[in-house]
Amino acid sequence: MFKKNKHGIQVKTPEQLEKMRSAGLVVGRTLQLLRDSVRPGMTPLDLDAIAEKAIRDEGAIPSFKGYQGYPATICASVNEEVVHGIPGDRRPLREGDVISIDCGAILDGWHGDSAITVGVGEIDPKLTELMRVTEEAMWRGIAALTVGRHLSDIGFEVERYVRSQGRYGIPQEYGGHGIGTEMHMDPWVANHGRPGRGPRFETGMCFAIEPMVNLGTDRTRVLADDWTVVTIDGKPSAHFEHSVAVTDNGPWVLTALDGGKARLGELLGEKAGTDGKTE
Ligand code: MF3
Ligand code: CO
Repeated sequence: MFKKNKHGIQVKTPEQLEKMRSAGLVVGRTLQLLRDSVRPGMTPLDLDAIAEKAIRDEGAIPSFKGYQGYPATICASVNEEVVHGIPGDRRPLREGDVISIDCGAILDGWHGDSAITVGVGEIDPKLTELMRVTEEAMWRGIAALTVGRHLSDIGFEVERYVRSQGRYGIPQEYGGHGIGTEMHMDPWVANHGRPGRGPRFETGMCFAIEPMVNLGTDRTRVLADDWTVVTIDGKPSAHFEHSVAVTDNGPWVLTALDGGKARLGELLGEKAGTDGKTE
C-alpha cells in the first residue's frame, strides 16, 4: 500500500502524488489567504482562526493541532522567533514586524506542509533582504530535487546560496523532512552541509524543504513554552517551506499554486515547469 525504498523513504505512486498535490494546494491556498490577511493590529491568534476555517472549509484537517501536544493550526514566529511560535492574542502585530507562518493540513490521509515569512506594513530593508535570501535559498534547495542527485545536495545548495549573500546564521539543529502519510517522515533534511552524500532521489519521493535564516547568530534556544525557538541574540529570523515531489520531469512543488513552474523554469530551464504530470 505505502511503499518504502531500501533507505526507508516513502515512494509514492502517481495516483498518490495527485493526492499529495490536493493536500498541498489546501495549504498553499491557506497561506495565500493568510499572506493577504496580515496587517498591523491583528494578532497571531486571529491568523490561526482564519487558517483553521480555511483548512476545514476545504474538507481537510489541520495537521499541527494535537501534534505532540501542539495547541494550534499554524506556527506563528514573530521577529526573533525562528520556528514553532505558538499563536497568541497578547501581542498584536506591529508595523515593521516580520512573521513566519507555518501551516500543515491533511487531506484524504496525505499531508502538505509549507511556510512563508511576511512583513507587517513597511519593514526595514534588511528584513526584506533577509526574506529574499531565505526564500531564494529554499528554491535553490528545491531545484536540487532531481532524480539521481543526493539528499545532502539540498542542504549544500541552501547553505551555499545563503553564504554567498552575506553573514547570516543558519540554525543547524532544525531542517526539513520527508512527508507523505505523516507530516514528519524519514529522512531529516539538513539546511547545510556537503554535497553528494546520502540516498539518491527517486521519482515519487516527497520532501519538505524549509530553510531558516537569521540576521545574526545561528544559535537558538527554546522558550519555557517548550515550543518557541528564538535566536539567542534577539535578531530576527525568516523561514520558508514547500512540500515537493521528485518526478521524472523535475521537482513538483506541491504546496505552490503553480507547482513551482515559474520559479523552477528560471532555475532549471527545461528540467522543470510541468505542473503535475508525472509521466
Ligand atoms: N513545518 C513545521 C516543521 O516541519 C511544522 C511544525 S509542526 C508542529 O517543523 F505541530 F510541531 F508545530
Ligand atoms: Co515542515
